[in-house]
Amino acid sequence: MRVAFFSTKSYDKEYFKKHSRRYKHDIIFYETSLSEKTVNLAEGCEAVCVFVNDHIDENTITALSKIGIKGILLRCAGYNNVNLEAAKKQGIKVLRVPAYSPESVAEHSLALIMTLNRKTHKAFNRVRENNFSIEHLVGFNLFEKTVGVVGTGLIGQAFAKIMLGFGSKVIAFDVYENEELKKKGVRYVSLDELFQQSDIISLHCPLTPETKYVINKDNLQKMKDGVMIINTSRGALINTKDVIGGLKSQKVGYLGLDVYEQEQDIFFRDLSESVLKDETISRLMSFPNVLITSHQGFFTREALDQIATVTLNNLTALQKKEELVNEVI
Ligand code: NAI
Repeated sequence: MRVAFFSTKSYDKEYFKKHSRRYKHDIIFYETSLSEKTVNLAEGCEAVCVFVNDHIDENTITALSKIGIKGILLRCAGYNNVNLEAAKKQGIKVLRVPAYSPESVAEHSLALIMTLNRKTHKAFNRVRENNFSIEHLVGFNLFEKTVGVVGTGLIGQAFAKIMLGFGSKVIAFDVYENEELKKKGVRYVSLDELFQQSDIISLHCPLTPETKYVINKDNLQKMKDGVMIINTSRGALINTKDVIGGLKSQKVGYLGLDVYEQEQDIFFRDLSESVLKDETISRLMSFPNVLITSHQGFFTREALDQIATVTLNNLTALQKKEELVNEVI
C-alpha cells in the first residue's frame, strides 16, 4: 500500500526503513505536518501516517477522502488530535499503536521526578563551571512519600510499579480499578483524596472532555503545599495559567512536563535561532522548579521498534481487509 508519512524525523525514517524490508509497502516520508493545506502531498496514496501534533480536523478529513485515502495511521497511542466522527462519516479507518513500551513513558516520568527532586540538571551545570557547592540542591526521599497516579492503564501501571519499588505509598484514581495493582499494594481513592494526600501527582489518563484541565485552580487548592505535579500524558490535562498561579503562590513546589497544551508549534523543532512567541511556555521556563522536555517520553529504542512494527502491521491489515485490531472507534 502506498502511504504518505507526515511529521517525520530522522528516527522515523531509520526505524521504519529498518522494519519495512519485511513488508511490501511504499512509504513516502514528509517532514511537514498533515493539515488541510498539505493533504495534496498524499495524492496517489491510500493511507496517511501521522503523529501526535498533526491536527486532523473535519476539513482535513474531507480533503483526504476526496483524494481516496482509506486509512489514517497514528504512530502513537493518543488520538485526541483526530476528529473521529468526521473520519467515520467519510468511511476512513483510524488505526493507532495502543501499547508500545509503556515502560518508556513511565520511566521518563520517573526521570522528571528524580531530576526535579535531586536537581541533577543543576548539579551537572555547576560542576562543569568548577562550582562544587551543593547549596540549594537539597532533595527529598521518595521512600514512604505518597505518590498519586491518575489513570492506571498501561503506562500508569508501569509507573505505579516503579514507585512501589522505591518504597513509596502509591494511591490511584481511575474509572476502572486494576486488581493486580491492588494486590501489589496500590490503594484506589477518590480524585479529591488523591489530590489531598499526594506528595507527587503523576498524570497517566487520556485527554477527554472529562479530564481536560483536571489540574485547575480549584483542584490545586485541595493539594498539599509544595506538591510535585508530573504530566507525561497530554498538555491540556493541565490548565497552564492556573498552574502558573500555583507556582507563583508556591502551592506547586515542582512541575515536570513532557507535554504542553500549545506544544503543536513548538515541540519536535529546533527553534534555537528563533524568537519564541509563546509567552506562556516562556513564563513556565522562567521558574527554577519547572522542568520541561519536548514530548520524549516515548523515545526509546524499544518503543520505536514497536511503533514501526505495529504501524506496518496495521497497514497490512488495512490493505488485506483483515480484522483491524487497533482501530480507534
Ligand atoms: P491506557 O488506555 O492504557 O490507559 C489510560 C487509563 O486512563 C485507563 O485505565 C482509563 O480507564 C483511564 N481513564 C480514562 N478516563 C479517566 C478519567 N476520567 N480519570 C482517570 N482515569 C481515566 O493508555 P496508556 O497507554 O497508559 O497511555 C496514557 C496516556 O499517555 C495516553 O492517553 C497518552 O496521552 C499518553 N502518552 C504519552 C506519551 C509520551 O511520549 N509522553 C506516549 C504515549 C502515551
